[in-house]
Amino acid sequence: MTAPVDATATPAWSELSSLRDSFAPDLRDWFAIDPRRAERLSFELADLHVDLSKNLVTDEILAALVRLAEQTGVAQRYAAMLAGEHINTTEDRAVLHTALRRPAGTEPALVVDGQDIDADVQSVLTAMSAFADRVRSGEWTGVTGKKVTHIVNIGIGGSDLGPVMVSAALEPYATAGIQARFVSNIDPFDLANKTKDLDPETTLFIVASKTFTTLETLTNARLARDWLWGGLQAAGAIDGSDEARTDAVAHHFVAVSTALDKVAAFGIDPVNAFGFWDWVGGRYSVDSAIGLSLMIELGPDVFRELLAGFHAVDEHVRTTPLDANVPVLMGLLNVWYSNFLGAQSHAVLPYAQQLSRFAAYLQQLTMESNGKSVRWDGSPATTDTGEVFWGEPGTNGQHAFYQLIHQGTRLIPADFIAFANPAYPLEDGGRDVHGLFLSNFLAQTKALAFGKTAAEVEAEGTTGPLVAARTFAGNKPTTSIFAPALTPAVLGQLVALYEHITFTQGVIWGVNSFDQWGVELGKQLALQIAPAIEGDEAAIAAQDASTRSLLAYYAAHRTR
Ligand code: F6P
Repeated sequence: MTAPVDATATPAWSELSSLRDSFAPDLRDWFAIDPRRAERLSFELADLHVDLSKNLVTDEILAALVRLAEQTGVAQRYAAMLAGEHINTTEDRAVLHTALRRPAGTEPALVVDGQDIDADVQSVLTAMSAFADRVRSGEWTGVTGKKVTHIVNIGIGGSDLGPVMVSAALEPYATAGIQARFVSNIDPFDLANKTKDLDPETTLFIVASKTFTTLETLTNARLARDWLWGGLQAAGAIDGSDEARTDAVAHHFVAVSTALDKVAAFGIDPVNAFGFWDWVGGRYSVDSAIGLSLMIELGPDVFRELLAGFHAVDEHVRTTPLDANVPVLMGLLNVWYSNFLGAQSHAVLPYAQQLSRFAAYLQQLTMESNGKSVRWDGSPATTDTGEVFWGEPGTNGQHAFYQLIHQGTRLIPADFIAFANPAYPLEDGGRDVHGLFLSNFLAQTKALAFGKTAAEVEAEGTTGPLVAARTFAGNKPTTSIFAPALTPAVLGQLVALYEHITFTQGVIWGVNSFDQWGVELGKQLALQIAPAIEGDEAAIAAQDASTRSLLAYYAAHRTR
């Protein structure tokens, strides 16, 4: 195992520390003295125009950050990942989500651990496409011969958040009369709510689980199966015989998993199962068979465009020097803010209502990946890791939490994401509403960067204590990501961008960004507490005093 480099012991870290000690950011001044700052710090990444100029960095700081990436071996680690080395050390696995989007026929073929990865990927994509086409055309029907109108993806975490986010983002591409819904929470409301207006005869369930052991997903899958059987029987479409029920499951359930034996044990015919591999992490799996719901809802061509978008960014990362490598630079900026300037969170603010689930998606990607306090060799982390990612689409966020970003005491770097063209162009009295929307994006990044001085406030006639209240300090860092439109390729580029930002930060911090042991304890305890919830005296007695008291409250208040 290659030991992680301790970033804090590198010369670049010392350089950055002294630069921080004398740091006095002044974006107004920096832009005034350098008319080319915006141009110099803007980059083209496939279809994305990425403007880093409103970040709190000088050329000197940026150069030191790039040296930090060099000295911690970011490029070497990326090459190791692409080559299929087992960089997921705690699970002894390769990390090859980038292989999911390699175009068919890429030479030389990628062979890892004796397996032709490209051939495996293409064969699953072909099977998914054929299945999606059958469902979309109506050749695949429910048990009573009706065309599928709704698909319900049952999965959680990486088996849910990616498909949910993409389905919402690419809604204008869902033109085959099939709508996808997503059930994830074991809260019974989720399944009940998402199925209450559905017709079992025209509903297809996809059970998506990498491990096929996840409590929430298997519980919801069983509930969905009962709902299907109950509904079909009530409609007189099937009788209650085992054969009829098995036939119903064969028509209305398919699965996506790396554990095809467990799929069969659930009662889903392995013929109707789509596989992936242990080298795809859950939060990196939207472009694997986990995206089957998307392929059906949006079509195989759209899915391929999405993959092409991912691949374009992978290629940028692979072939671009660190000082012009956009995801690496953005990862380095995050390190600067969190390790040197004390930022604890990072806002992602899409100016696109369709990206309403983008921040939630990024939360799993970034926080499950880099929320670690030990490094990949088991030694303690040597600096803070893993910021809190959060956000909401603009302009809604402007009327909620932007106040704190503008005038609060905390530093919150923010990424703004916007598109030149809307999905649905609308006019308000002859005025392009999308233009008005975009002027908000531009206004916010401008206000955050340059603020408003007391002199400017006074010049407007304000006096007294109100002057301070109306003053904006500015120097609030933002990155602007602008693209022509929210197409499938652009969405793939955006997701891959954040995957590689996360990777860069993980390497600098020396953590394994591809395991998630931190979710295990809660899962184990939930299983231990389940009997106590049912009133088992011994299980109740085994709990701590607080949990016992909460169980007592539950027992006193439950009405079932
Ligand atoms: O929350 C832990 C986790 O393992 C995630 O990493 C994963 O995406 C999710 O659970 C779902 O797991 P599975 O796809 O195996 O059901």
